[in-house]
Amino acid sequence: MLKGKHIVLGITGGIAAYKSASLVRLLVKAGADVQVIMTPNAKEFITPLTLSTLSGKPVISEFFTANTGEWHSHVDLGLWADAMVVAPATASTIAKMANGVADNMLVTTYLSAKAPVFVAPAMDLDMMRHPSTLRNISLLQSYGNHIIEPAEGELASHLVGKGRMEEPENIVKALDTFFEKELSLKGKKILVTAGPTYEKIDPVRFIGNYSSGKMGYAIADCAAARGAEVVLISGPVSIIPTQPSVRVVKVESAKEMLAECERAYPDCNIAIMTAAVADYAPTEVSDKKIKRETTGIDSIALIKNPDIAATLGSKKKDGQILVGFALETDNEINNALEKLGRKNLDMIVLNSLRVAGAGFRTDTNKISICYPDNTRTDYDLKPKTEVAEDILDAVTELCKKD
Ligand code: CTP
Repeated sequence: MLKGKHIVLGITGGIAAYKSASLVRLLVKAGADVQVIMTPNAKEFITPLTLSTLSGKPVISEFFTANTGEWHSHVDLGLWADAMVVAPATASTIAKMANGVADNMLVTTYLSAKAPVFVAPAMDLDMMRHPSTLRNISLLQSYGNHIIEPAEGELASHLVGKGRMEEPENIVKALDTFFEKELSLKGKKILVTAGPTYEKIDPVRFIGNYSSGKMGYAIADCAAARGAEVVLISGPVSIIPTQPSVRVVKVESAKEMLAECERAYPDCNIAIMTAAVADYAPTEVSDKKIKRETTGIDSIALIKNPDIAATLGSKKKDGQILVGFALETDNEINNALEKLGRKNLDMIVLNSLRVAGAGFRTDTNKISICYPDNTRTDYDLKPKTEVAEDILDAVTELCKKD
């Protein structure tokens, strides 16, 4: 997977920098084209000569070469990279990356990089667990950067704990897996529904629900990152996709969502229905605000909305994969399996409102995936971004079976 990939390897000033020589060697052996950038302090731990010899390219450390005045463009490097890896990443560099302190070539290139970024922290255990380091690491994660967790073991201080840079072999493995996944949905067209629907009562009121859209947007982003062409048909939410290639179609009501889904579905290989579609809409929509004292009403007559998933299920062609969600409060598995059959789904993702941290408006979710043969996989409670990865791994497996 690394053959021909352009890797910018950022090395910072920590004792683990000695392992960078092996990392460069392994990357080059795997066929990658490696450009090393060192912070000035990193040169105290390992020489540029070692790294330029192993990578076959002059190491970059300053913004320009002193004797020739040659300018090193961090922008060009940022564009050249298929991935940027910072290993070892010291607490100081992590803090600079998290806060945009661009006072060296490494952080400047990081800020210009369009490619995915992998960060392998290495530091003493107390620095590693300091709230400031933990906050900076979670900031990097929130930017979509991948953290290669440090291992536990004996540290340079001879203390034992978490802080050892992950072994070069495992860093290469993490990159390899990433590139494998990145290509796993290439050529697939994926439809995702997300968010709530709003069913109008009058110009200022609607029937809706608490869905934030986070799960659907995370799936759309993850599918786009894996190379899929994604159309995201979304009810009203306050978030946007992080992947620029996701095409968003905004709708309000279930009927509008159905119309857009029917337009997109025939060309899609996969449809993932995460939207919390309102099951009912008012029979009549008042074109004027309903006034309490004059036009006031005692009740709202409702009519059943179309079932979008079931409609697509009835039109499913050979080779198309249809995935549904079930948000349940009781009798979860049976309800999910009943929906799987009724809507002609290939798998259903179940989340229970009884589990703390799962369901609406949370950043985490705990799911089970159920299949038509009654098999089931249960997953741990995790951030929705990671749940999206699990769901797309399962979808990718279904694609392989087809
Ligand atoms: N769904 C849909 N259109 C609807 C209702 C639901 O496409 N009108 C989809 C959801 O996006 C989800 C799945 O069907 O993927 C199950 O949704 P859920 O609300 O759990 O089920 P319902 O069919 O509405 O059943 P109930 O309200 O009885 O739980």
